Amino acid sequence: MPADHSWDLLFTHVTLATLEGGHPFGLIENAALACTGDRIAWLGPMAALPADATARRVEHLEQRVLTPGLIDCHTHLVFAGNRAHEFDLRLNGATYEQIARAGGGILSSVRAVRAASEDALLAQSLPRARALLADGVTTLEIKSGYGLEFESERKMLRVARRIGELLGITVRTTYLAAHALPPEYCDDADGYIDAVIDWLPRLHDEGLVDAVDAFCEGIGFSPAQTRRVFAAARALGLPVKLHADQLSNLGGAALAAAFDGLSADHLEHTDAEGVQAMAAHGTVAVLLPGAFHVLRETRLPPIAQLREHGVPMAVATDCNPGTSPLLSLRQAMQLACTHFRLTPDEAGTSPIPPNCAIGSAEHWPSASMWLAVHSPDRSVFPCA
Ligand code: NIG
Ligand code: FE
Repeated sequence: MPADHSWDLLFTHVTLATLEGGHPFGLIENAALACTGDRIAWLGPMAALPADATARRVEHLEQRVLTPGLIDCHTHLVFAGNRAHEFDLRLNGATYEQIARAGGGILSSVRAVRAASEDALLAQSLPRARALLADGVTTLEIKSGYGLEFESERKMLRVARRIGELLGITVRTTYLAAHALPPEYCDDADGYIDAVIDWLPRLHDEGLVDAVDAFCEGIGFSPAQTRRVFAAARALGLPVKLHADQLSNLGGAALAAAFDGLSADHLEHTDAEGVQAMAAHGTVAVLLPGAFHVLRETRLPPIAQLREHGVPMAVATDCNPGTSPLLSLRQAMQLACTHFRLTPDEAGTSPIPPNCAIGSAEHWPSASMWLAVHSPDRSVFPCA
């Protein structure tokens, strides 16, 4: 049967980043790409475009770069207020830890989120999502964790869902109530973890939770407390991920891997055992160079060991008001190259598989199959 070259959508005159190996970004200069329904039907050099090609819509892209839509798999994008003064405090010598122990940091955002109505929280958060979208992001993970009480955590997760609906992008929500100890539980971290575990099935029943996260750290929660949260998540069939080994080594990477974690994130203090456990369980290393940069950290994640053990690496913005007020995933990729010495190819995403679905992120975190057009006027194409 002759091939059908009548398509729904045809992009012509693009610089196409297929992200296939062997050539930086798998670039095809002066290329074309065609879609039918939610599938990529054809791609290749313009010179190879079939003579009988037709499409209902043709976009001449003037050699702009066309990539798979980008995935930002770690954000705290829903928040209220700002913490610009903390930047000043840190420049004057205060550490993130000292600010947190003095009731600032995460707890400062908690006060602002609790005080904001759902609509106000949406109004403040939506422009941040739009900025990421304009930068090529089409799949976005958003965490709770600035509510730390049932209704406020629910409010954050509802806002995250509304952002996905309003912008027509894929939003994955992560329940991060185990982010900091709220004032109501000041001397009772275990009691707070009981509450976190109690709220989870109720929020899950409302369809508000796609994954569960925790901050396993001296100023967060202990490995034992993290395990309790993760056991509750897994009992509900929810995947887990972890803020692991950012400021100290509590064995967070290995802990996340033991629960078949989707990812362990930060990893500045992860040791060889943690790397090996991640490799054994297929846990993705999510690198957050924005937080590393803003906190002026000096200890690097174990990039060479992650490479050596074949641990998949992803880069995310960690967009949050304290440690990474970053609204560009491409900037995060650049920082990952500058600070962590990732190669540009490593900082990119995985190849476009043949005949792949457009508009869905079948594997997460990994490449999203929407298409992003980059500079001069950036936009994303939900092709379906
Ligand atoms: O990923 N380290 C914990 N959580 C965030 C920061 C949150 C905040 O400071 O508001 C992070 O860096
Ligand atoms: Fe984070």
